[in-house]
Amino acid sequence: MMNLTLKIWRQKNANEKGKIVDYPVSGISPDMSFLEMLDVLNQELIEKGKEPVAFDHDCREGICGTCSLYINGRAHGPATKITACQLHMRSFKDGDTIYIEPWRAKAFPVVKDLIVDRSSFDRIQQAGGFISVNTSGNTQDANAIPIEKEHADKAFDAATCIGCGACVASCKNSSAMLFVSAKVSQFALLPQGQVEATDRVMNMVKQMDEEGFGNCTNTGACEVECPKGISLENIARMNREYLTASLKG
Ligand code: SF4
Ligand code: FES
Repeated sequence: MMNLTLKIWRQKNANEKGKIVDYPVSGISPDMSFLEMLDVLNQELIEKGKEPVAFDHDCREGICGTCSLYINGRAHGPATKITACQLHMRSFKDGDTIYIEPWRAKAFPVVKDLIVDRSSFDRIQQAGGFISVNTSGNTQDANAIPIEKEHADKAFDAATCIGCGACVASCKNSSAMLFVSAKVSQFALLPQGQVEATDRVMNMVKQMDEEGFGNCTNTGACEVECPKGISLENIARMNREYLTASLKG
């Protein structure tokens, strides 16, 4: 069992200033997940009549992308290719001090404590992250359209992006290029995505800029911290898509 000191960002709402508050926790099992450890803390706070720490979570199995936590200065903590909910306390030692903060980016304003508003990602998706399908009854079976294995694999890899925002949080420019490029690439590589390809990339990039995300300067921190291993190759593909779309006017 471990005893730890947690240094957690507390902030009442978007308008008030936040600060780091110290919380000792004891009896933490190395087999607990990071979020279970926070549950233990919150249970103690509730029993003492104090305000529990607000943090986002849903699936707790690396799928939904909501558990956006900056842990000891890294998005999703010290391990690679996992989300905060998949992080186990065995990654820490008895007596450790752990800093827990929300994502920091202008386009992700803090809602409360560790929860940020990532609706900017939703608006980027709404700007072009879809395909239109004829549902008149003559719809072609998607499986009847031959797709090169390499393209299918790369489209699938891009589609594993869970929209967590770790790429933005770990980028010194708060750029959303890895996220947007994954959402563009998952369609750009498939025949079903070609019909709206020009509008898609133009509209999604326009929305990304309007939301206040920074530019990409090829640092690569996003790729390192992405829990799904989304490759920088997608950014190169999006840039090509954007150039082609711009030339078409
Ligand atoms: S690209 Fe990776 S880090 Fe960025 S939102 Fe998608 S899964 Fe998260
Ligand atoms: S809670 Fe869903 S990915 Fe962590």
